[in-house]
Amino acid sequence: MFLFIIAILSQYFAVTGSICRCLSNDSTCWQLFNDSINECLVLPRPSATSCTRDQLNMEACTIAYTNWMNSKWRSEQLGAMQYYNWEMPNVLYTI
Ligand SMILES: *[C@@H]1O[C@H](CO)[C@@H](O)[C@H](O)[C@H]1NC(C)=O
Ligand SMILES: *[C@@H]1O[C@H](CO)[C@@H](O)[C@H](O)[C@H]1NC(C)=O
Repeated sequence: MFLFIIAILSQYFAVTGSICRCLSNDSTCWQLFNDSINECLVLPRPSATSCTRDQLNMEACTIAYTNWMNSKWRSEQLGAMQYYNWEMPNVLYTI
């Protein structure tokens, strides 16, 4: 199975001219890569993504706001920086 997926990826890269990498705008490549690792690929997001206008989720945003400086909470968030100053605090709405 693994060799089969490698063969498909190689074929894909040969056709598209890519060299062992997926560009951010190439969803087919990411899908093939995801399939090749048993669909374990995750998409990290900044910890306050739920507070942005286009992905607003008040419950998740309130949790992010409440835990903004909590390093334990941060370490459990996929895509969060350990130090909050490396994220963009200006995306947080005033709650
Ligand atoms: C993705 O972007 C690159 C560089 O801008 C471009 O060359 C390529 O054709 C794009 N691929 C897709 C699938 O849109
Ligand atoms: C990878 O595949 C799984 C199962 O289909 C899906 O839940 C997950 O969102 C995919 N990962 C990405 C980054 O698209």
